[in-house]
Amino acid sequence: SALPAATDPVTVTVTGAAGNIGYATLFRVAAGEMLGADRPVRLRLLEIPSSLEAAEGTALELQDGAFPLLESVDVFDDPVRAFDGVQAGLLIGSRPRGPGMERSELLEANGAIFSAQGAAINAGAAEDVRVVVVGNPANTNALIAASHAPDVPLERFTALTRLDHHRAVAQLALATGSPVGSVRRVSIWGNHSASQVPDVDHAEIGGRPALEVLAEHGRGRAWIDEEFIPRVARRGAEIIEVRGGSSVASAAHAAICHMRDWVRGTPEGDWTSMAVPSDGSHGVQEGLISSFPVTCAAGRYDINHEVKLGDDVENRLRASVRELAEEREAVRSRGLLGPRGRS
Ligand code: NAD
Ligand code: LMR
Repeated sequence: SALPAATDPVTVTVTGAAGNIGYATLFRVAAGEMLGADRPVRLRLLEIPSSLEAAEGTALELQDGAFPLLESVDVFDDPVRAFDGVQAGLLIGSRPRGPGMERSELLEANGAIFSAQGAAINAGAAEDVRVVVVGNPANTNALIAASHAPDVPLERFTALTRLDHHRAVAQLALATGSPVGSVRRVSIWGNHSASQVPDVDHAEIGGRPALEVLAEHGRGRAWIDEEFIPRVARRGAEIIEVRGGSSVASAAHAAICHMRDWVRGTPEGDWTSMAVPSDGSHGVQEGLISSFPVTCAAGRYDINHEVKLGDDVENRLRASVRELAEEREAVRSRGLLGPRGRS
């Protein structure tokens, strides 16, 4: 899909607009941090009826920001209307988990949300629509939405693992006393769950192999296996414990970066991580929505087919893909998959 001309406004639909992440996202989108400082935006906010008034209040505050790029703000409780003409969809609205829960336990509460929204996107989205699902369990919710939108190219449905990517980058910087900006080519594979696979095999710190720099700081395979991977994979739970609620501003930031890079490209020489429909590469069953290292350019993402998986990463990824397949079976058996998933 061609990018619209530089000054055309972009229609952005944000679900869960009165929730925590919605609130942390909207003002930055209005300020041009997602689509660029030259790109007007039309915001469409979706909430459930009981939170509609709070969303209206957020809309008033968005007016009060007097954002030069903000062309309009509209509030809806009907997904069909909210997604009419959508070009960038941030699907945030859904319940967060509490202490001691796994994200997959949210499927019962959240799955149905994404059936209705997928159908609404199918009905009214613009031709160049791009969707990122933030609501958990994000990969499988994205699968549900895509299955209800058979007329939208499958690759437009993605889920957020950028937060995991950022967490991995930050941990590597901390462990080696390096600037965050010097860490590149980190990968997150698989599910946005405890089974995710943070991969440093191809990472670089200050232009050198990360494994080498880590070794200089006394951190070898044991540190990667026993500290780094569990730290990143369980960071969401750690935030819930320490903060008393699931991550908000870091999640909003990651969602903005995900959509920004998808539309505007990843930096030269680096890649990022996105959960996207598998094309069957790296042993991930085609159609599952799995995190991969991707490069983005000209408004599209491409799964990195060049990186070779180390044995350990491959084994871990196999387990994460098994979990994704199980989640898909769980939602299939609950009748949550739409026409695309049934074929
Ligand atoms: P929150 O409870 O503060 O806000 C959720 C909002 O969604 C509420 O205002 C609720 O009314 C609204 N909502 C519920 N059903 C809706 C529907 N059908 N349509 C529109 N809006 C609806 O929660 P939060 O902290 O903003 O988190 C939102 C979701 O994001 C959770 O599922 C959380 O687990 C997830 N999350 C994902 C990541 C990630 O990296 N993928 C990171 C953090 C949080
Ligand atoms: C996160 O990774 O912080 C989010 O997915 C919230 C959660 O439940 O962990």
